[in-house]
Amino acid sequence: MSNKLTISVASGDGIGSEIMEAVISIFNAAEVPLNYEIIGMGKKYYDEGYGNGMTPEAMESIERNGVLFKGPMETPKGKGVKSINVTARKVWSTYANRRHFKTIHGVDTLYSNAGIPVDITVIRENIEDTYGGIEHMLSNDVALSRRIITRQGCEQVIKFAFEMARKEGFKKITCGHKANIMKLTDGLFLEVFNEVAQSYPEIQTEDVIVDALCMKLVQRPQDFEVVVLTNFQGDIVSDLCAGLVGGLGFAPSTNVGDNISIFEAVHGTAPDIAGKNLANPTSLLLSGVMMLRHIGLFKEAALIEDALMYTLESGVHTGDFGDKSIPSVGTKEFAAAVIGALGKQPEGGSSRKALADRVDFRPPTRPLQQKVMKGKECKVEIEGIDVFFVSEDIAADIAPRIESKLPENVRLVSLTNRGTIVWPEGSVYTECSTGYGARIVGKGLGKQEYWSVMEELDEVIEISSTEFLHVIDGKSAYSKGQGEI
Ligand code: NAI
Repeated sequence: MSNKLTISVASGDGIGSEIMEAVISIFNAAEVPLNYEIIGMGKKYYDEGYGNGMTPEAMESIERNGVLFKGPMETPKGKGVKSINVTARKVWSTYANRRHFKTIHGVDTLYSNAGIPVDITVIRENIEDTYGGIEHMLSNDVALSRRIITRQGCEQVIKFAFEMARKEGFKKITCGHKANIMKLTDGLFLEVFNEVAQSYPEIQTEDVIVDALCMKLVQRPQDFEVVVLTNFQGDIVSDLCAGLVGGLGFAPSTNVGDNISIFEAVHGTAPDIAGKNLANPTSLLLSGVMMLRHIGLFKEAALIEDALMYTLESGVHTGDFGDKSIPSVGTKEFAAAVIGALGKQPEGGSSRKALADRVDFRPPTRPLQQKVMKGKECKVEIEGIDVFFVSEDIAADIAPRIESKLPENVRLVSLTNRGTIVWPEGSVYTECSTGYGARIVGKGLGKQEYWSVMEELDEVIEISSTEFLHVIDGKSAYSKGQGEI
C-alpha cells in the first residue's frame, strides 16, 4: 500500500468526463501523489433509481476519504428531485463555499484592460438561508419560503473566513449583509461577524449593506480582499465577482467542511458541446489546485497553477474565450499545453508557494452519530402567536371575526398583509394579497392555551401556518409589521 492520500473522483455528466480526464492528465504529469477512487454519481444514477443521484458505494467512499473532486452534474428536471450538487454540500456539512476571483493575464476584461487589479476571495455560507428549500404554497396564490439562519451556522462560516485570513495573510474582511431590512436573520449574521472579529484584532473589518457592496465591487474592486456573506446574497455576489475576472470559467470553487470537502467546476454540464473536445478545463483545474492546497500539496498546486497561467498568457485558449485572431484549441490540446508549461513561470507573477505551516489534512474519523450544535442556555417565553391565514375579505371585515373568538386575556394586535400593517391602521392604497397574518398576544399564556385559541379561530379563518412570538432572555425575538411602532 502506498502512503498517498486517496480522493473520491466523480467525472459527472456532459463535458464532465472530458475535462476530468484533462485535469487528471495534468495532475499525473505534475506527479501529484494521489490515488483516485472513481465513484458513481450523476444523472445516470438517478436514471438507475438512486434517488440522490449516487450509489451507496459512492457515499461510503466520500465519507471515508473526506475529499470529493467532481465534474458538473445534471439534475433531472421535474418536481421532487433535488440538485445532487446542493444535496452533497448540505448532507456533508460543507458550510463554507470559498471562491477566488483574480485577474488572469491572458484573459481580457474591462478591468484588466484598465489596469485595475482584481483579487477577491468570497466566502459564502453554504447550507442555510433560503437554500434550505423549505417552501410551501399557503394557497393557490401565496408561496412561502423559510429563511433559516442559525448562530452556529454563522459562527462556522465566519470563523472559517477569519482563520483563512490569518493563515494566508489576508488583511481585511468585509461582511456583506442586509441587516437594515432583515433585522433578525441578517442581524444575527452581522452580530456573529462582530463577535468573531474580536478574536482577530490584526484583521481589519468592515460591514457593507449588500446592494451598496455590489455597486462598490463594480466601481472599486481593488478595495476588497475577502468578503463573507450569507448563502443567497453570497451566491449573487460570487457571480458578480466572476464577471469582474472574465466569467465563471475562471473562478474556482470549493465547499469546505470540518470533515468532508467538495471541489468542483462552477459551470454546468454544457450539453451543447459535450463529446466534441471543445470544453475548457480551466475551472475544474483551478478547483483542483485549491483542492491540492486543502490537502497540503502546496508544491504541486503552485507548479500546476504557474503552468496554467503561463499557458493562458501565451494565448492558448479553447473556443469559449480568448483572442479570436488566434485559432482555438481543443480540450486535449489545452491540457497538453499546460503539461508542456510545467516548470515555467508566468509573467503575471508566480502563484503562492508552499506555506510554512502545511495543512495537516487527515481523512475524517467516522462519528458514531449525528452532532447537535448546541447554543448557550437562555430563557424562552411566549408572549403571543402570529397566525397566517388565507382570506379574500378586507382586513376591516376580518378583524371583528377574529376578535369575537378571543378570550378576555388575549387580544388581536394587528393584521398584516405581505408584512405591511393593514389593521387597525393602514392605507386604503395598500393592495392586499389573499395571505394575511394576525398578531395575537396574551398575558401569561402557555402553548396549550394558544392551541385552544387556534381551535376557536379555525372556525372563522382559513389558517395556513403559525409562529410563536418568543421573548428570549427578556427581549422580544420577532420582527414588527411594516408600519408598526
Ligand atoms: P452550463 O454552464 O452547462 O452552460 C452554459 C453555457 O456555457 C453553454 O453555452 C456551455 O457550452 C458553456 N460552457 C459551460 N462550461 C463550459 C466549459 N467548461 N467550456 C466551454 N464552454 C462551457 O449551464 P446550463 O446550460 O444552465 O446547465 C446545463 C446543465 O448543467 C443542467 O443540467 C444543470 O442542472 C447542470 N449544472 C450543474 C452544475 C454543477 O454540477 N455544479 C452547475 C450548473 C449547472
